[in-house]
Amino acid sequence: MLLRAPAIIFSATDASSPWKQQQHNGFKKGISSDKSGVGLVATYMKTKRGAKHSVHTVRAAGAEVKTTSALTGVVFEPFSEVQNELVLVSQSFSQSLARQKFSDSCEGALNEQINVEYNVSYIYHALFAYFDRDNVALPGFAKYFRDASDEERGHAEMFMKYQNVRGGKVKLQSILMPTIMEFDNSQKGEALYAMELALSLEKLTNQKLLNLHTVAQEANDGQMTDFIEGNFLTDQVQAIKKVSEYASQLRRIGQGHGVWHFDQMLLNGGDVAPAPGAGAPGAGAPAAA
Ligand SMILES: [Fe+2]
Ligand SMILES: [Fe+2]
Repeated sequence: MLLRAPAIIFSATDASSPWKQQQHNGFKKGISSDKSGVGLVATYMKTKRGAKHSVHTVRAAGAEVKTTSALTGVVFEPFSEVQNELVLVSQSFSQSLARQKFSDSCEGALNEQINVEYNVSYIYHALFAYFDRDNVALPGFAKYFRDASDEERGHAEMFMKYQNVRGGKVKLQSILMPTIMEFDNSQKGEALYAMELALSLEKLTNQKLLNLHTVAQEANDGQMTDFIEGNFLTDQVQAIKKVSEYASQLRRIGQGHGVWHFDQMLLNGGDVAPAPGAGAPGAGAPAAA
């Protein structure tokens, strides 16, 4: 609650500034000017327990050149201010108590992203099953796509947990059956075809993540944009780079014997195929898409 008098005057800026006080409409003003001749006019309003101030105008040579607003927010009246929050606490067992400034649009978009991640996971799982067949027998590709499937499911779970953190409700939607289960391609061969499919999926996922980020931005949800940026956007562009490299290498290799070496590289978890007879697999797991 603002009281109109008496005001508290203090110099919040340069202590050496020549402050003058003025009485105006029950408020007191402090006027200062620095060495450059720029004057600051500040109005101080005394509250019940303290003072707030706002710098309204900056004048130079008598002309207004800039306006800044600097309500500091330092003055905090916990027991009176918390009343507004207290009335908003849900008394229903079916509603979140934690929910605060979390829009319906963000909640809905998160559920859509969960569905995207599950669908992509499902397609990677289909690729795993294909490469694991006895008549295809590329265990490195099978492992790579199983890991990619797990990773996408993990992403879905991260979004689920985040939905719960913000007080939204997870609503699962249908996962579509992959329209193709045969990934052989007479022109490209199954390995390159599958990797180009993975590249397209990763780019599509990136576009969906950017759409989600836009929804959060439009809702002015700084925490949600931070969550998406910190946990997904960087990893996603790195995944696109990695899958692009694999697709480029497979283009050079062509079909046949080279694919077997590439498969061994994926199986042994490194970017470079281990030398024949080498015991330990290469360092680091290949980046799952
Ligand atoms: Fe993902
Ligand atoms: Fe991915």
